[in-house]
Amino acid sequence: MRDEADYPDPGRVERRAADPVESARAGRLWWDAAADAYQADHGAFLGDADFVWCPEGLTEAGADLLDLARTRDGRFLEVGCGAAQCARWLRSQGVREVVAVDVALRQLQHARRIDGEGGITVPTAQADAQRLPFADNCFDVVFSAFGAFPFVPAAVDALAEAGRVLRPGGRWCSR
Ligand SMILES: C[S@@+](CC[C@H](N)C(=O)[O-])C[C@H]1O[C@@H](n2cnc3c(N)ncnc32)[C@H](O)[C@@H]1O
Repeated sequence: MRDEADYPDPGRVERRAADPVESARAGRLWWDAAADAYQADHGAFLGDADFVWCPEGLTEAGADLLDLARTRDGRFLEVGCGAAQCARWLRSQGVREVVAVDVALRQLQHARRIDGEGGITVPTAQADAQRLPFADNCFDVVFSAFGAFPFVPAAVDALAEAGRVLRPGGRWCSR
């Protein structure tokens, strides 16, 4: 367990409007600085290739929210993936097409480290949930486990962006 001091000092905290560009920049700076402490704190709980939806410990293996029996052959997107543990678990379950995005490069460097240690690799991209670098209607499943959406100023706009890349009738799931 890390000490609070290992996380970046948020500085002066205030409540005011922020546009998506400012918010993504702030999120990237904070999560880049916090990623080492976050992975040290939560890595064992998350597992390198496990899918934990939330701090209460709900797992995809137990809850089957993504209905893998039906969706396994589709294209999956994880938003706000951290070190992509969830996407890695999906790969271990036979999902062939999954990509994971996070705004923080340092989180994705942890993804590369875990890929190298365990041998299950996940394609990742550094991207803001508010402006996903994908075409319309190109994923069958889009999901997020406490990634991105609690950290943007207008979650409804970010949800619309997730909806844009999800094909009609596709599955969206977030905790
Ligand atoms: C609480 S962590 C959860 C990460 C991962 N889902 C997990 O369960 O460990 C939140 C993640 O959201 C990412 N994030 C925050 N704002 C984001 C944004 N605007 N776009 C994409 N990712 C973002 C952070 O970098 C961080 O990795």
